[in-house]
Amino acid sequence: MSTPQPQATKVDPSAPRPPRKPPSAAGRYLFLFLLGLVIGIITVVMLLRSLEGRKTWQDHYPTAAMQLMSAHTAQLRQKLDANRCAATDVLPHLQALRMVGNDLDPAFPDLRDSTRFAGHTGSYRATLDQVLSSPPMNCAGLKSTLEAIGGDCKACHGDFRG
Ligand code: HEC
Repeated sequence: MSTPQPQATKVDPSAPRPPRKPPSAAGRYLFLFLLGLVIGIITVVMLLRSLEGRKTWQDHYPTAAMQLMSAHTAQLRQKLDANRCAATDVLPHLQALRMVGNDLDPAFPDLRDSTRFAGHTGSYRATLDQVLSSPPMNCAGLKSTLEAIGGDCKACHGDFRG
């Protein structure tokens, strides 16, 4: 009595091969869609870069002034957090903030004629003039100075920042 051999599915080399599947239309469309997507993204990035490159200093002026003010107030806040409130730590930033105050009117030529805008720029400069005439001597002083400056930032943003 012989043990039954497992039925091995042997491939008969002489049997005809099953026909290959034709390439699916869905696969082709997906490929074309992805190709179009990549080309589209590259085109948009190039377009945006060329638009950015065409901007003049007048276009950058308002953002540049604001970013500079933001950089100096942020550094003052860092000094406060690090408990470093000596005049040598804070004066350079306060002076820079005062200087950028002169740029506010030319940086926003559309708003220059608004008396309310002029009021805000004047008030900002007055705050910094006052701060520079009696600079903060310790961290408590720096804290209230930062609050006063922040109040001027907020007041103008409340009226003019869209
Ligand atoms: C006299 C008005 C005025 C004062 C004072 C002012 N800002 Fe602004 N700020 C604006 C206006 C207007 C915009 C909107 C600019 C725009 O979108 O073109 C703005 C925008 C900004 C922005 C966003 C800039 C960007 O990248 O789009 C920052 C950050 C900023 N201000 C920081 C400050 C800080 C910090 C202070 C105070 C130290 C301050 N601003 C004081 C008018 C002012």
